Amino acid sequence: MTTIERLDPTDDAQFADYYEAYRAAHDREWDRPYSAIEKRVGLLESGVYQDSIGVIARDASGHAVGIGLAEIPLKDNLLTGFVGLRVLLAHRRRGHGSALLDALLDVCRSAGREKVMGVTHWTPGESNVPGRAFADSHGFVLDQVDAHRVLDLPASLPAAPALHGYVLQSWRGPCPERWVDDYATLRSLLTQEAPSGDLALEAEFFDAERIRVEEASLEKQGRIMAAAVALDPTGKPVGHTQLVFPGSDPEDVYQWDTLVLSPHRGHGLGLSLKVHAMDSARDLLVGRKHVHTYNAASNGPMIAVNERMGFRLVAYNGEFLRTI
Ligand SMILES: CC(C)(COP(=O)(O)OP(=O)(O)OC[C@H]1O[C@@H](n2cnc3c(N)ncnc32)[C@H](O)[C@@H]1OP(=O)(O)O)[C@@H](O)C(=O)NCCC(=O)NCCS
Repeated sequence: MTTIERLDPTDDAQFADYYEAYRAAHDREWDRPYSAIEKRVGLLESGVYQDSIGVIARDASGHAVGIGLAEIPLKDNLLTGFVGLRVLLAHRRRGHGSALLDALLDVCRSAGREKVMGVTHWTPGESNVPGRAFADSHGFVLDQVDAHRVLDLPASLPAAPALHGYVLQSWRGPCPERWVDDYATLRSLLTQEAPSGDLALEAEFFDAERIRVEEASLEKQGRIMAAAVALDPTGKPVGHTQLVFPGSDPEDVYQWDTLVLSPHRGHGLGLSLKVHAMDSARDLLVGRKHVHTYNAASNGPMIAVNERMGFRLVAYNGEFLRTI
């Protein structure tokens, strides 16, 4: 029997149960959990740009055996919901995952969502992936595969200066005021400009205010964001990349967005931006072991950049889609 409980992220004891089950249900080398503070800040900031609703599955003895999270965008993609769920290895195949999914789908339905996306992880060549079998059994279809690549550090990077009148700049923490509006536009366009499956996400809502809100969240989470932009010959930002350094994890660095707007492609800016961001963050990279990057497995240009830098494939994340 499974009891599903809605998480109140302000409740210390309940959050401790939620986080412990979330952390313990990460049992694969390249599928890493967020830290407790990263998770909690995300949950506490629910309600402005997205709702983030956590649920806990408890077994008959009251033990937390699984968790789920529904993320509901509030300013864009109003028909889409995102769900994630995990069950502790020793408690699988007892219906807890299905009970969690039912609760998450209810959240999505009551928020008026018609399409739901969930992600599951596997390693190259792996067969019988539990998350895939689970997704199939619940009517989800594979929409897109993202490749997860890792660069082992220290790494020697190719020289990649900006050419053809473009200029590279970087910052850490808050985006300089003079670029913040263009940077917000770049942030909003990733879902449009990167390859996507049938879900075809709309542009995400980003303005200068949201950039500032996100920067404040990163600080609360103990993360440092080191970003780089490419300016065109008129000085306008036309591409960017982001490196995130988690405060609670001394080994890993995460590459978040990388985007060069379509009219500015073909000048080598993808590679230039990524190399520049790492060069500018050299002091933060000391002692770190891996940079992680994720992109659609069909994204030839981005993969070529990553391979040129020495990234190697370690895992896939399948994006599964279902209509509700
Ligand atoms: C996916 C996951 C949440 C499933 O949790 P669970 O509690 O084992 O799920 P259920 O017991 O409700 O399984 C429901 C059905 O899914 C299918 N299924 C689940 N795991 C399976 C497996 N390892 N092999 C084959 N079928 C499987 C079966 O049809 C199962 O029904 P059955 O047991 O009556 O045959 C769990 O494996 C997990 O935490 N995986 C890692 C995280 C992840 O991939 N999450 C996926 C979505 S975001």
